[in-house]
Amino acid sequence: MVLHATDPVTRILTLLSSHTGQDFIAYDRSIIERRIAERLSQLGNLDAEDYCKRLASDVAEANYLSKMFYIRYSRFFRQPLQFQLLRDVVIPPLLSDPDKSIYKVWSAACAGGEEAFSLAIILDEVTRSINSSQHISIFATDIAEDALAEGKQAVYSGERIEEVSVKRLKTYFIPESGAYRVCDALRQQVSFSSHDLLDTKTFAPPESIFGGFDLILCRNFLMYLVDDFYNQVFDKLFKALNPGGILMLGKAETVPQKHLPRLTRLYDFSGLYKKTMAR
Ligand SMILES: C[S@@+](CC[C@H](N)C(=O)[O-])C[C@H]1O[C@@H](n2cnc3c(N)ncnc32)[C@H](O)[C@@H]1O
Repeated sequence: MVLHATDPVTRILTLLSSHTGQDFIAYDRSIIERRIAERLSQLGNLDAEDYCKRLASDVAEANYLSKMFYIRYSRFFRQPLQFQLLRDVVIPPLLSDPDKSIYKVWSAACAGGEEAFSLAIILDEVTRSINSSQHISIFATDIAEDALAEGKQAVYSGERIEEVSVKRLKTYFIPESGAYRVCDALRQQVSFSSHDLLDTKTFAPPESIFGGFDLILCRNFLMYLVDDFYNQVFDKLFKALNPGGILMLGKAETVPQKHLPRLTRLYDFSGLYKKTMAR
């Protein structure tokens, strides 16, 4: 009898799981395969079989490859039209509830903090323009510890700040050795913490106590998940959002069928949705 050897990708995932405890079954297989191919090419077009042998005893390599699967890319004001709509049309009425003085927002899968600080900038602009004194807490979470460390450090350069206007650079950043550090006032407003969106035991970052967010940004993460896990994470975001709250998705992400009656799209192609029903 001929036993079929498991394919190298499956074996790599098994080895990763034994080293890191993460199984990556939630992530789209084609992305996993692309990242493995990229890693093999970085290692001088190493053969997959040889890579499996190396991985069997190399924990550091397993950690490195796991990080590659997370796809950390982000930049300030990514998808600028969304931020413009948020600032000019969506946030002013959201902050105008006379019975509410505390607001909570969540940047879920925040990478190095670019999205959370972009949001902090427009929230500051809006609160100044409407003379509002509400307290707004921004929770920024990610699974990757190195991403969170970057967010806490808040120093950015190059492509990541290309979409930041000169006026905003002058107002909200401090030049630092060829890069820019986010000013203290914004840094104090954003709290970074570790949160695995795939963890079924939690439905919001513990720091936020019980969720109850008025605005959630979850962009360019769901698109990497297979359907079942996409729906599972979406349920979590939906639960964490207050009735009347706003959800902002990435360009390639849509609302699952079952949630369509409960989330009203605000503008065509904007990726912005308002929660209209609690359940
Ligand atoms: C492409 S970045 C998106 C960053 C930002 N939201 C944006 O749109 O620019 C995807 C982020 O998802 C994070 N991520 C991957 N798996 C995660 C998980 N299970 N829970 C939370 N964050 C995760 C990655 O570490 C990465 O920072």
